[in-house]
Amino acid sequence: MAIHEVGVLGAGLMGSGIAEVAAKAGYETLVREVTEDLAARGLTRIETSMAKAVEKGKLASADRDAARKRLKTTTKLSDLSGCDLIVEAIVENLDLKKETYRELDRLCKPETIFCSNTSSLTITEMSAATQRPDRFAGLHFFNPVPIMKLVEVVRTIGTSDATAETVFAFARSLGKEPIRTRDNSGFIVNRLLVPYLLDAVRALEEGVGTAEDIDKGMELGCGYPMGPLKLLDFVGLDTTYAIAEIMFLEYREKRFAPPPLLKRMVLAGRYGKKSGRGFYEYGGGK
Ligand code: CAA
Ligand code: NAD
Repeated sequence: MAIHEVGVLGAGLMGSGIAEVAAKAGYETLVREVTEDLAARGLTRIETSMAKAVEKGKLASADRDAARKRLKTTTKLSDLSGCDLIVEAIVENLDLKKETYRELDRLCKPETIFCSNTSSLTITEMSAATQRPDRFAGLHFFNPVPIMKLVEVVRTIGTSDATAETVFAFARSLGKEPIRTRDNSGFIVNRLLVPYLLDAVRALEEGVGTAEDIDKGMELGCGYPMGPLKLLDFVGLDTTYAIAEIMFLEYREKRFAPPPLLKRMVLAGRYGKKSGRGFYEYGGGK
């Protein structure tokens, strides 16, 4: 199936990145947020990122301008009814996602393919809220979306061959390197990454080292681009907490259980870079 118009649900950290790469790849891109203010903030994030790409010589300014023209925002879900493919990147909450899919299913044309960018929920459970499990797949991007090459393409037992192929080709058309994975909570990458990140919080809780030393250890000792606590701030502690809870419920294994310190930080509003404070402090945060 040919994809012309792409819908993106959510203009947060991930949704704005997904909308940016879709518009840069030539798709008419419509982003839905819950308020005008959040939509405007998402657009500003995209404009800042594209300006940086131009500055770094990764994007021609004419291509930036053309991509910007392809991007539109809305607060109305019904505006997405004509999209050929929709990527959902709203908060990691199953009830909210299911409710949104139920509504979208009613509004969209039958051919529209639904893709979730969920980190830890099962695609099957979301697809069951619709009448189109055959046109439903996972499309899991990595943060920061414009830079990270990988996308996980997740197929459920209900995903049709045509949908799986279309979604895989779509990921390629965005300039990404897709891999195929089964619909297990966390897919391939988060199944390995999340226990490591949670263990870093436990190491901090136990006083094994300071946040700076734990991060320096993994950066300089193992060549990781970011230490685990910096990466947690970057991903969002609220999002990681939700992911850990979901994976723990799925697998019932201690390695996925969110440590109390992570919970305390979320309760205290320390979400990481996006709120101005997490394991580190960031200037200009909320
Ligand atoms: N658009 C396009 N390209 C850009 C850009 C932009 N806005 N900003 C920077 N770039 C390019 C740069 O030109 C540079 O390219 P070259 O290497 O070819 O020169 C490259 O991107 C790196 O940019 P920087 O040098 O500015 O950045 P950095 O070296 O400080 O690296 C980073 C930043 C890529 C974020 C790096 O720190 C990193 O890889 N961190 C780990 C990120 C990670 O692990 N992400 C996964 C999180 S988990 C997840 O996403 C899944 C989940 O479900 C939670
Ligand atoms: P975020 O909190 O930055 O953004 C979520 C956005 O969704 C918010 O702006 C919120 O207003 C919006 N939203 C909520 N309900 C909505 C609705 N019904 N319609 C449209 N917008 C709605 O979160 P994020 O980090 O971008 O994560 C989004 C999704 O992507 C989650 O499922 C998360 O697990 C996944 N993900 C996150 C990362 C990461 O590193 N943060 C990486 C890969 C996948």
